[in-house]
Amino acid sequence: MNARHTIIICMGSSCFARGNRRLLPMIEEFLVERGLKDLVEITGSRCEGRCADGPNLVIDGTRYPHVDEGMLLDLLENHFVRETGV
Ligand code: FES
Repeated sequence: MNARHTIIICMGSSCFARGNRRLLPMIEEFLVERGLKDLVEITGSRCEGRCADGPNLVIDGTRYPHVDEGMLLDLLENHFVRETGV
């Protein structure tokens, strides 16, 4: 795999319980549907010490707090389809 992009999803217990357990399969599904699976590496992190801002997600170095299902698809669409054009 030659990933050009990274997504780090917090899998600490707070972020996991507050939504990241549902967001992870949504991210994977988005990448497969868009043919981006091999270009994006998804990594799970432990608690990042920012539980109050969770669920937390980092896309190519930019941190996104309070991510929910509705926001996630907009983030992915904006970043990978509009911004980077991959
Ligand atoms: S569990 Fe995600 S920041 Fe603590």
